[in-house]
Amino acid sequence: MQLQLAQLVAAATQEAVAVATRAELEAFKARVVGPNGSLTQVMKGMATLSKEERPVVGKLINEAKKSIEEILAALLVKVENAEIAAALGAAVDPTLPSPDAPAGSLHPLSRTRERILASFRKLGFVVADGPEVETEWHCFDALNTPADHPARDMQDTLYMPKAFRSADAPRKADEAILLRTHTSSVQVRTMLSRQPPFRIVAPGRCFRRDAVDATHSANFHQVEGLWIDRHVTLADLRGVLDFFVKETFGADAEIRLRPSFFPFTEPSFEMDLRSPNLGRLSNRWLEIMGCGLVDPKVLELCGLDPDEWSGLAFGLGLERIAMLVHGIDDIRHFYNNDTRFLRQFA
Ligand code: FA5
Repeated sequence: MQLQLAQLVAAATQEAVAVATRAELEAFKARVVGPNGSLTQVMKGMATLSKEERPVVGKLINEAKKSIEEILAALLVKVENAEIAAALGAAVDPTLPSPDAPAGSLHPLSRTRERILASFRKLGFVVADGPEVETEWHCFDALNTPADHPARDMQDTLYMPKAFRSADAPRKADEAILLRTHTSSVQVRTMLSRQPPFRIVAPGRCFRRDAVDATHSANFHQVEGLWIDRHVTLADLRGVLDFFVKETFGADAEIRLRPSFFPFTEPSFEMDLRSPNLGRLSNRWLEIMGCGLVDPKVLELCGLDPDEWSGLAFGLGLERIAMLVHGIDDIRHFYNNDTRFLRQFA
């Protein structure tokens, strides 16, 4: 009987090679394990065996049954794959990803951010981070922004209710917590936590109670830059910003530093950009960021000796740069999630 079973499995293995369709599979199955199948016949023969022979033969039959089940399972996969291939047409490879699912793509703001960071990385800047929910001290006091400065007004700034004031361990129990109005708070956190010299860029979300229009959003993004070292000068500031602008807007782009005021830089400037590659905005001076040399008072407040260390800082609006680069006329397009808009940047 052992020989009979071995022959049965060998014959089934050989026959299986020719099975290609579901009908052939069903016929094959019937020939082996059907009511009159070859294996079923052998199993029926068990009745004629003695009590001693039965467990030995039973074990052999179970092994043969297992082999046949494996052959049947493999044949089912083969037949199903053949059916899928036939349904899709011969040219289609069913293992490829579905062409029906459109691939996602980076948001235009993410693309612009990566492009900006890439140009500063070339100058040795590394990316730094800070919280969006910030203490009043990090957002204003440490940046030499006095308590009566309009930016701290409840009208301009989104303060958190007392119930939420636990997130980032306020310096004082009664200190106000707010949604940061600029990424300059990352300057403070970096100066407090790193030993100079260093160069950082900090991209991130900012919040202001600005009325929303084509160029203002209550929720927008900035990229902050800070370089602290010995003997950092205005020439460094000009060089860094000129390099960034040429990388982003082309070699023909020019910059202009216009005197301005920020409490945390001295001197302070608005940086304007002019480029022949900006469509209807070509060859006009356009304001794109605030910048300056770090005020010695800020260095002192952040624990650095102003006689040893100096620095430059800048802060640009990500949306405004993305709008210029792509000729987008309304900031609200970035947040509407309209795929007709987003698809243009895929
Ligand atoms: C600042 O926020 C300073 N912290 C920048 C700075 C950093 C100066 C370091 C000096 C040194 P300002 O408020 O001008 O500056 O904002 C900077 C940029 O953020 C603006 O030029 C603009 O591009 C963008 N921005 C400001 N408010 C909005 C808004 N509501 N919607 C969109 N973009 C905005």
